[in-house]
Formats: sequence, structure tokens, C-alpha cells
Amino acid sequence: MKTIVVTGGAGFIGSNFVYYLLSHSTSSRIVVFDKLTYAGNQRSLQEAIETGRVHFVQGDIADSRQVHALYHRFKPAYIFNFAAESHVDRSIEGPEAFVRTNVEGTFQLLQESRRYWMGLKGRARVDFRFLHVSTDEVYGSLGKTGSFSETTPYAPNSPYSATKAGADHLVRAYHETYGLPVVLTNCSNNYGPYQFPEKLIPLMILNALEGKPLPVYGDGKNVRDWLYVEDHCEALWKAMTKGSPGERYNVGGSNEKTNLEVVGTLCRQLQRAYPAGQNPALLEKGLKDYGKLVVFVKDRPGHDRRYAIDASKIRRELGWIPHHSFDTGMEATVKWYLGHLDWCRRVQEGNYGRQRLGLLKK
Ligand SMILES: NC(=O)c1ccc[n+]([C@@H]2O[C@H](COP(=O)([O-])OP(=O)(O)OC[C@H]3O[C@@H](n4cnc5c(N)ncnc54)[C@H](O)[C@@H]3O)[C@@H](O)[C@H]2O)c1
Repeated sequence: MKTIVVTGGAGFIGSNFVYYLLSHSTSSRIVVFDKLTYAGNQRSLQEAIETGRVHFVQGDIADSRQVHALYHRFKPAYIFNFAAESHVDRSIEGPEAFVRTNVEGTFQLLQESRRYWMGLKGRARVDFRFLHVSTDEVYGSLGKTGSFSETTPYAPNSPYSATKAGADHLVRAYHETYGLPVVLTNCSNNYGPYQFPEKLIPLMILNALEGKPLPVYGDGKNVRDWLYVEDHCEALWKAMTKGSPGERYNVGGSNEKTNLEVVGTLCRQLQRAYPAGQNPALLEKGLKDYGKLVVFVKDRPGHDRRYAIDASKIRRELGWIPHHSFDTGMEATVKWYLGHLDWCRRVQEGNYGRQRLGLLKK
């Protein structure tokens, strides 16, 4: 039985990936290694752990002794590295944690992977892979046209994307220098279940339900290429099982939307699922339309204007295609949040009140 380690598996994409593995890799044992920062929550894995196939270990990827113990104990065939500090606004306020986890943590995993892989024999050594999950934000910002390909030069603009870029360079170097069998993926913005409510889509859904303002940064015309999280999970599994060591794959849904369009779509979806006219929080304010809650707020410092991904390589070479359109993905997402308000309340409890983060203090 193969053991698959998922670092950061209690976070948004990591927990979705654990559920993906449970249904698509039915004979493997899954080990989640997660520090449980504010963004990680064991509650998101409850049903997965109940299957008996998922083992949870609380630990820090930047702690070399803990990482060594993880490899020694579980002898993984595959490592998926999702663990990261992931919120741009938080990286503006406190970049240290981003350097520690995203750069130092990835370094410790690579060091231990190399040591462990060198000790493997035969088939186990040939099959071992380290997949590093990264972002399109490493490429910087685009003008009105064009898209990021795998050969676009890196130009990160936030402490978050700079630390992800640093980690990506280390991953590449461990292949070029030591021959470590790594695969690197750079994906666009994800949305779907289990996303911590500091990120645009869950934040807007929860604020709308409570009749609170929907804060849109700047003019609302920043463009992102949105992908439903399950489609990202499939791309990662394909990259791991069919991709070649040393390769990188860009992953994106070809769903370019301005932030205003995203908020407009989710307001329409909410209106269908729970009409504002029946929501006491909106009625109290005399509103019959969630869209009326939109307010424009001061822009994020260094806010990238546009991201777009050219995913033709992973489509062509690995046969990956996204299955969700933006509308079907958003419909599923809005329904999920409406059905999991208790999860939303509990993950925020005591550590986050949906306040504005990432404004420079004078
Ligand atoms: N969310 C997106 O739209 C998106 C898009 C492309 C790539 N990515 C990348 O995918 C990965 C997962 O993103 P996410 O949105 O699920 O993030 P997330 O913030 O929801 O989850 C991160 C997880 O990592 C854990 N973690 C943080 N520091 C750790 C450490 N030192 N050791 C062990 N665990 C630690 C947290 O507890 C949490 O469970 C990240 O590497 C991110 O850069 C995210």
C-alpha cells in the first residue's frame, strides 16, 4: 500500500485534495502533516479521518526534526506540499511567517526528501515524487492581453508571491543539482468548499448573508482566472502520476473574471438559493438585493492587475481538462457555504472577525 503525505492537508486545497484522494486512489494510505495555523482546521478532515485511511500528524514543515520523523515513520511514496502561508494581505502585515514556512519549510522538505530518496532502492526509488503546489502569482501582473506560460519569467510583487517564487526556485534547483524527482505546478485562483473566510469568495458570501458590506478593493476591475478546487485536485493527481520529473505545469480554468463580476455572480447565486427578500438581515436594512451591499474600499498595496494562465501544456501532455464552468462551480460553492455555516463559525472563532487586513500603516 502506497503512503501519500499531504502537507497543509487541513487547509483549503489540501483538505479538498484528501477527499479527492479517498475516491481516486483507493488503495493508498494518506498522511496529513499540518501545523494547524489559523488557516488549518482538523474539522475540515473529520469525515476523511472517520474512513480510517487518513492519519493526521500535527507538525511544522520548517522543523527539520519533525520532518525527518515524518519520513522515517511513514516512508512515503509521494509528497504533495500544500503547506504555506497563503494570504497576500497577511503577507503585507507580517511577511516573516511567509519566509519561514514558504521558503524555509520547503527547503527542509527538499533536504529530507533528498536524504530519504537517496536511501531508497529499486522500484521505490524510481517511483518516488515530490510535488510542490505553487501559484500563478509568481509571474507577477499582466497587461490587458496575454497569459502566463511555463516559460514566463518570474516577477513576484507581494511578500506572499516572492516567498512562493523562492520556494519554486529551490524545488527546481533540487532537480537540476541533485536529480530529485520533483514536479512543480502553478495554479490560478481556486474557489470551493473549506476555504477560510478571509478569502474573497467565502468572505463575500458570509458578509452578504449577514447583511454586511461587501468590500471590493480599488475599482473592482482586477482580473483573476478562477478554477473550481476539485479541478485543481485532478490536475495535481495527473501531474504526480503522469507528469515527468523536473517538469512544471501551469493550471488554470480559462475563467477570467474581474472581482466585480465574481461578486455579481455570487450575489445572483445567493439570490436564487436564499432570496434577499426572505433574509431578515437584508429586510432589516430595506434591501431586496445582495448586490446593494457592495462598497468600494482602498486598494491593496501592490495589487496585481491581471492574471491569466495558459494551461495548454497540462491539457496537451497530461489530458487534463476542468469539468466545472464558473457558474456551476459558484453554484456548488454557494450551496456548500449555506449548508456549512457551523463550520464557518467554528473556524473563525476567536481568531478572525472578517476585518480588513493588509493596509500599510503610516
Ligand atoms: N488558494 C488558492 O487560490 C491557491 C492557488 C494556487 C496555489 N495555491 C497554493 O496552494 C497551497 C494551499 O493553498 P490553500 O489556499 O489551501 O492555503 P490555506 O492557507 O488554506 O492552507 C494552508 C495550510 O498549511 C498549513 N500550514 C501553514 N504553515 C505550515 C507549516 N509551517 N507546517 C505545516 N503546515 C503548515 C495550515 O495550517 C493550513 O492548513 C499553497 O501552497 C498556496 O500557495 C493556492
